[in-house]
Amino acid sequence: MAKSMPDMAKVLYSEQAIDECLTRLGKEIGQEYKGKKVLVLSVLKGGFMFTADLIRKVDPYPTVMQLDFIKASSYGSGTETSGVVKIEGLDISTVKGKDVLIMEDIVDSGLTLSRICSLLRGEGGAASVKVCALLDKRARRKVEFEADWVGFDCPDEFVVGYGIDFSEHWRFLPFVGVPKPEAVERVRAEINKH
Ligand code: IMP
Repeated sequence: MAKSMPDMAKVLYSEQAIDECLTRLGKEIGQEYKGKKVLVLSVLKGGFMFTADLIRKVDPYPTVMQLDFIKASSYGSGTETSGVVKIEGLDISTVKGKDVLIMEDIVDSGLTLSRICSLLRGEGGAASVKVCALLDKRARRKVEFEADWVGFDCPDEFVVGYGIDFSEHWRFLPFVGVPKPEAVERVRAEINKH
């Protein structure tokens, strides 16, 4: 078993389940952007692993697939959203007239993605904005938001792995899992010491 397994209460989505899911998403996205130019905006940090794997599965490949990264944060060092979405690294002048596809790890309250989408559609003047999220926690919405593609409908649990972290822990795990409460407490105590 992977090295950090002792900290995990359970595996929600295994490496194999994720791989199969990405194959499905890659085909659906490939059909959507067939013969088109697309700007993929990957939302850091959580979306980096998902984006790297998914762009390799897009089939057929769009005429041009441009890649850029933006950073969004609303969690701080806790396990609940702060409600304040901070967006960095978005050069709004580069999206005008483009078909934009956002790749994000999780839709939770929906605040982050609604903020990003309205920026791109409004001020940015994108031709279209679509969203592909690996996980969707529908039960936790605070604002109305629907992603165009979703990998898995995720239960209302705090998850880590496959790019998703808790205060920089467990991001590298190849699967998505739920950490044990005592492991979360241990990390929280470490944070409070510093
Ligand atoms: P939203 O703005 O509430 O939809 O928050 C989305 C962001 O919150 C995601 O991109 C993650 O960074 C973070 N997030 C939501 N749920 C979890 C979780 O279970 N584990 C770690 N981060 C999470």
